[in-house]
Amino acid sequence: MSKYAKDQPTGFENAIERVAIVGAGGTIGSNIVTSLLQTGKHTITALTRKDSTNTLPAGVLVAPVDYADEATLIAALKDQQFLIITMAPTAPRDTHSKLVQAAAKAGVPYVMPNGYGGDIDNVRLENETMLGPIGKGQRAEIESLGMKWITVCCGFWYDYSLAGGEARFGFDFDKRALTIYDDGNAKISTSTLAQVGRAVASVLSLKELPDDENDKSLTLSAFLNKGVYVKSFVVSQNDMFESVKRVTGTTDADWTVTHEASKKRYEDGLALVRTGNMAGFGKMLYARMFYPGDSGEFSTKVQNGLLGLPEETLDEGTKAGVDLVEVLLSRVERMAS
Ligand SMILES: NC(=O)c1ccc[n+]([C@@H]2O[C@H](COP(=O)([O-])OP(=O)(O)OC[C@H]3O[C@@H](n4cnc5c(N)ncnc54)[C@H](OP(=O)(O)O)[C@@H]3O)[C@@H](O)[C@H]2O)c1
Repeated sequence: MSKYAKDQPTGFENAIERVAIVGAGGTIGSNIVTSLLQTGKHTITALTRKDSTNTLPAGVLVAPVDYADEATLIAALKDQQFLIITMAPTAPRDTHSKLVQAAAKAGVPYVMPNGYGGDIDNVRLENETMLGPIGKGQRAEIESLGMKWITVCCGFWYDYSLAGGEARFGFDFDKRALTIYDDGNAKISTSTLAQVGRAVASVLSLKELPDDENDKSLTLSAFLNKGVYVKSFVVSQNDMFESVKRVTGTTDADWTVTHEASKKRYEDGLALVRTGNMAGFGKMLYARMFYPGDSGEFSTKVQNGLLGLPEETLDEGTKAGVDLVEVLLSRVERMAS
């Protein structure tokens, strides 16, 4: 495709109007759909398994699919301009590939692959958390099929990770217990679910291409085959704890705090994963991101300003996390993996 809208065939709209999404009723997918709907600029089609028990947001078109029947995927993806994949990490590994292959056959030009994690260009950190090779393979497959990708680098989801149990940001709200890695001062980049939703909607609401060589405005094409970097907060566990105490009206006396070396936690988690026990995965992943001096912090790369994303206060994010605790506790199977 030429780089400019002026060179496109008659009828070219220069906007992403038809968006397909997998996981519209899921954790991040539902937040993305909320923000996309708010723009009023997109027709959203949710690809969902025929036997799915998920509730889909109102306002989306529903395309029931069967991952064992490629024709259902191709039919659902026909005429779509952008496919967003937000699939449960517990889904069989080849499901992502099935979607991407169907998207290529249906003629979808752009795919946002699963991911929604750290800085994809921090190869060492990505590899040490075992996520790097998976994401790299998914992006390579998209390119090999003649499509282009945009992946979201948002760090851990702040509210989700705060609420999601001791293995994540160290907080156990039921027991009012907190495990702090090392001295608790390592800062990481992290985004609320809502901020990730807004970021995706913002990118998909840009013009697809510059009008002509004089058009210097930001376009979706500027993000192709790259990460889009966003954040809500750059915070340490100590910062989080201060915010949790403010939001919950508790004091140090209400909490049992223990300290553990991040490196030991990483190695313990990794050892469990190597024996096939995926309960170690979260422990390994989160501990690694908090290594002092070598953490998952990428604030110099964030593009919040470009995308017009709002500033959020840490206590708002913490409140959203506290509100999520009960919701996540009901997802026992997922939280154990
Ligand atoms: N940065 C972070 O802190 C963070 C945290 C968690 C996850 N993530 C990443 O975000 C992405 C999405 O995670 P999520 O938590 O939003 O997902 P999720 O809510 O657990 O699931 C999303 C959707 O996946 C579909 N699905 C579930 N099981 C499936 C199966 N066996 N086969 C096919 N489809 C299945 C379901 O859609 P239907 O029922 O409609 O078919 C579900 O709504 C993943 O890449 C994950 O690694 C990032």
